[in-house]
Amino acid sequence: MRGGMATLYCLKQDKNHFIKVGTELLRAYQIDPTIPLKFGCCEGKCGVCVIKVVKGEENLSKRTRQENETLEIKNFDPTYRLACQCAILGDVTIDV
Ligand code: FES
Repeated sequence: MRGGMATLYCLKQDKNHFIKVGTELLRAYQIDPTIPLKFGCCEGKCGVCVIKVVKGEENLSKRTRQENETLEIKNFDPTYRLACQCAILGDVTIDV
């Protein structure tokens, strides 16, 4: 993390995306659509935006109650997050 920017490394894409700390991932995608994320409801309910966090989970904002409910219903383990429900607070690697 440098100068208020965090690095989102997308493993399959093999690319770093530099995002201002505190930015929601949905907003980051709106600013830079080359980030390989997918969104549906944008309300933490459909699960379309699920991402596997490989490294830096602690650098994402805390899970919302809605996010926990959806991840549980859809049987995702704790390494997954809903991109529409989290903001980046530091460097993170995701498996997309
Ligand atoms: S877009 Fe539907 S849960 Fe994130």
